[in-house]
Amino acid sequence: MTDQTDRYAVIGNPVAHSKSPEIHARFAAQTQQSLIYERLLAPLDGFAAAVRRFIQEGGRGANVTVPFKLEAHALATVLTERAQAAGAANTLRFDGNAILGDNTDGIGLVTDIVRNAGVPVQGKRVLLLGAGGAARGVILPLLSENPLSLTIANRNHAKAVQLVQEFSAQHKNVHADDFTALHEPFDIIINATSASLAAEVPPLSPSVFGNDTLAYDMMYGKEPTVFMRFAMQHGSMARDGLGMLVEQAAESFLLWRNVRPDTAAVFAQLRAAL
Ligand code: ATR
Repeated sequence: MTDQTDRYAVIGNPVAHSKSPEIHARFAAQTQQSLIYERLLAPLDGFAAAVRRFIQEGGRGANVTVPFKLEAHALATVLTERAQAAGAANTLRFDGNAILGDNTDGIGLVTDIVRNAGVPVQGKRVLLLGAGGAARGVILPLLSENPLSLTIANRNHAKAVQLVQEFSAQHKNVHADDFTALHEPFDIIINATSASLAAEVPPLSPSVFGNDTLAYDMMYGKEPTVFMRFAMQHGSMARDGLGMLVEQAAESFLLWRNVRPDTAAVFAQLRAAL
């Protein structure tokens, strides 16, 4: 049933839009790894069954996308610390009967900010917008960089408070604030809300954007997002989430293949093709 070539897939619903097959094919070519990476559309009520079938057919690992990241977390028999903290898994590795669940989204974001944008998180005042799955997934990797403070602001303030409570026992420098309470400039502002999808900007005072602020939107597109435009109008630098996409993929590839691909060329190719 299995042939010689290791198989990987991105599992989602929908999944046709996913750039992961293209990214991993480029990583494989660059690192001279022989593998197949495909798209797997799982029925909304059939994620676990789809994973088990894929394992039987020789699958060695998978990326997991909307709406299955929580189910992937539940299905894993072993979780990395960052997947536990995220409460979601975007990467699975199949090791015999074990399923390792990891979450590479947060480290992907941090790598894009620190290495690619050249902005250290250490010692900085960081503002995280949103309290959904995307926000939760990046909190531990951000805190691991030792920012001066991490402020979480969300439209539904109670959700931000709840999220902070999960981390504040171990990290004293994380707290929740209302959008209306934020006035001073932050060093780094990360938009982890889905507001950009609706072409909306979270209700932030322009004064939080300083001239040295990096405004980062986890969304990306051909054009700057509304959040990026808002930040740039108020004097800040802005960056979209394309680099995070490529870096999270590189971390998955590392987990599976034990080699970290070079992301710069792949990033440039994806950017040019948007
Ligand atoms: P995801 O997995 O992408 O994080 P989610 O869990 O549904 O998706 O969370 C969406 C996040 O975007 C939430 O923080 C949501 O705020 P609420 O909790 O108050 O709903 C936030 N969000 C969505 N649309 C928004 C908008 N127009 N303005 C501000 N925040 C928005």
